[in-house]
Amino acid sequence: MNTVLSGIRSTGNLHLGNYFGALKNFVKMQHENNCFFFIADYHSLTTHPTPADLHHNVKQVLVEYLACGIDPDIATIYIQSDLVEVAELYLLLNMNAYVGELERCTSFKEKIRKQPDNVNAGLLTYPTLMAADILIHRANQVPVGKDQGQHLEMTRTFANRFNRLYKNEYFPQPVAYNFGEALIKIPGLDGSGKMGKSEGNAINLADEPEVIRKKVMKAVTDNGPTVTNQKMAEPVKNLFTLLKVVSSPETVNFFTDKYNDCSIRYGDLKKQLADDIITFTTPIRKQINELKLDNDYLRKVIDNGTDKARASASKTLKEVREIIGFKKF
Ligand code: TRP
Repeated sequence: MNTVLSGIRSTGNLHLGNYFGALKNFVKMQHENNCFFFIADYHSLTTHPTPADLHHNVKQVLVEYLACGIDPDIATIYIQSDLVEVAELYLLLNMNAYVGELERCTSFKEKIRKQPDNVNAGLLTYPTLMAADILIHRANQVPVGKDQGQHLEMTRTFANRFNRLYKNEYFPQPVAYNFGEALIKIPGLDGSGKMGKSEGNAINLADEPEVIRKKVMKAVTDNGPTVTNQKMAEPVKNLFTLLKVVSSPETVNFFTDKYNDCSIRYGDLKKQLADDIITFTTPIRKQINELKLDNDYLRKVIDNGTDKARASASKTLKEVREIIGFKKF
């Protein structure tokens, strides 16, 4: 049986990009694999959240994991900061992570650009913490979106380096898992790039219908096609990408034909898209709102998940310490 691990940073509400890029796969994988799904709250510290926001965001991700269908009786759900073993493995892995390779990481370069006043060492070593998350359970499959490809490659590098240094094939080589489809990228509503929490272009799973409608109606488009079968501009292509994930094939074909013969009205397309997103998110939103109120249940889920995760993590850490040469006097 494969060991699967993935996590999402607790930095705000989860959106359609998280669902189709990650959560949907988590739910599918839980039945056939030994799955660990955690909430990456250490990772969220790079942007210095307030204590109240930190806690609120952890709870939100937990509730949204459950609302999307992760079953705590099957999969192991836990909070990253509840496992000190992760922090220790992170320290150990940092000893063989080279500053040069960390500085060359695309996500680090992006962060420097985005938050030049807060280029902390936690940002630099983000990939070693992520490697610790994965390697602490010796996971071999990691369902993540396309943007995490480089981080995963670094995880393999660190794992390999450890194995070579200690001449011990201890860590597996984890790979991205995506059900044989190309790693999916859900675009935002602002015409370019992917849907993201911080980009302000996202539709959240918890958004009320009116909010979804407003966001979709405001999405960027163009002036419309003027010749038949015109190539789609990126903002329009993005709306079709979203339509493909939430609407029926008939609906997609209907609007594609309308685009191709130049009779499309973007207002109609957006109205349909908003309706179909709302149909899709409504059961999830209802679950979110119910679970949010049930603190007793949430505590039980986390207590139980932490126990299971700790058993796996402490076993790995004990073995790693032995391999490195830590010995009792
Ligand atoms: N870096 C991931 C993201 O931003 C979150 C993450 C942290 C993660 N540790 C992980 C994902 C380990 C998979 C495995 O989405």
